[in-house]
Amino acid sequence: MPGHKQAMVESCPLPTGRITVRHQIGYTFTMNSLCNKRVLLGITGGIAAYKSAELVRRLREQGAEVQVVMTHAACEFITPLTLQALSGKPVRTELFSTQAEAAMGHIELARWSDIILVAPATAHFIARLTYGFADDLLSTLCLATEAPIALAPAMNHQMWKNAATRANIRILEERGIRLLGPAAGDQACGESGPGRMLEPDQLATALAECFSSSRLQGLRILITAGPTQEAIDPVRYISNRSSGRMGYALCQAALEAGAEVSLVSGPVALEAPARARCHRVSTAMEMYQAVMDEAGHTDIFIAAAAVSDYRCIHSAQTKIKKSTDPLNLVLELNPDILASVAALPGAPFTVGFAAETDSLEEYAMDKMTRKRVDMIAANLVGEGKGFESLENALEVYWNGGSCSLHLDSKERIAHQLIELIAERFHEKNPDQGTEPAAG
Ligand code: C5P
Repeated sequence: MPGHKQAMVESCPLPTGRITVRHQIGYTFTMNSLCNKRVLLGITGGIAAYKSAELVRRLREQGAEVQVVMTHAACEFITPLTLQALSGKPVRTELFSTQAEAAMGHIELARWSDIILVAPATAHFIARLTYGFADDLLSTLCLATEAPIALAPAMNHQMWKNAATRANIRILEERGIRLLGPAAGDQACGESGPGRMLEPDQLATALAECFSSSRLQGLRILITAGPTQEAIDPVRYISNRSSGRMGYALCQAALEAGAEVSLVSGPVALEAPARARCHRVSTAMEMYQAVMDEAGHTDIFIAAAAVSDYRCIHSAQTKIKKSTDPLNLVLELNPDILASVAALPGAPFTVGFAAETDSLEEYAMDKMTRKRVDMIAANLVGEGKGFESLENALEVYWNGGSCSLHLDSKERIAHQLIELIAERFHEKNPDQGTEPAAG
């Protein structure tokens, strides 16, 4: 019978992976804007340095990897040992340390960072940054990095109001350095006014916002993620090894780019980003229904789910008993969700995935033409690559172009893919949503 297939299958266990939060019903992952971000935290010599210890904890709670770099003056206020214990990494203080430089040289460290946050940033450090000093490790890193720099100023209110500080701040802001705070209020010196460092919670939130952009502002994105489960009987199902991690990372990256995101998710052990509208489904038919209900009013559709191609024609109402006879399951084809969306009149910009074990480009190009989609993100799976891994590498193809996204965390790959999607979308629809910002 066309579209039917014979198979013998075992039920598939739930995917597992890196654990951050334990819930009553099992392990779940959390994803937010600082998840897997590499934060270089510079601490300079002000009394607010005592709050930096708490800040490290807040950043790590949000999933960031934190490398602390302290100036000599900062070590007068808080010990490197405290920061080392909290960050889980040796603290760097010296520019000319043969041992530390052998482990990760300062240029490498500057490249490692996704962002540099200096908290507290004293008036003295702000002045040195303004004039491009490179006479200690932290100031050198700030000059050598291509990553964005954020400062959390902390100083006496008169120093903050001083014309020299005002002029320095103006110059730094013109150069694109972000200021987080300061707040006004009681100060350690007993006076009151502007110059208090923001609280660690506020700084962690503000830092996460630094990763937001407006590339997809005003656009609606629909994303499928995870596997589907096709019932064989009340306790067994056909599924696959998809963890959902790539789709969830795309959801977070799209939110950070300003989009309104709907996530249609198969059963995974992941927590959806709070700002996404999440529909949980089990089967391919449920996923198809949820997607088709929304596809007519979405701008971009990303099919990251590993949808079961087949479902059982008849799933048993009671548990199938073990027997020595072969068990034959008759399967029928599930609808192709991606192709169905791409075939809609006025279809959204469609992005599909192609997980292949070989001939990546050939299969990806064939899929793009056959399903009439705008873009295909292809990756090799099997032998530890793809599905259950925390990392991914993608070959992305579109009509007239392609791009390689080299092996990196799924979160970082998701940001790069969202950038590519935004670029192609705006090229195809120059009048819709926010134009890509210059630079
Ligand atoms: O044809 P193949 O399953 O390899 O295509 C993979 C792409 O198609 C993925 O983007 C996947 O999410 C999507 N797909 C779908 N519905 C199906 C099968 C695949 O949306 N039934």
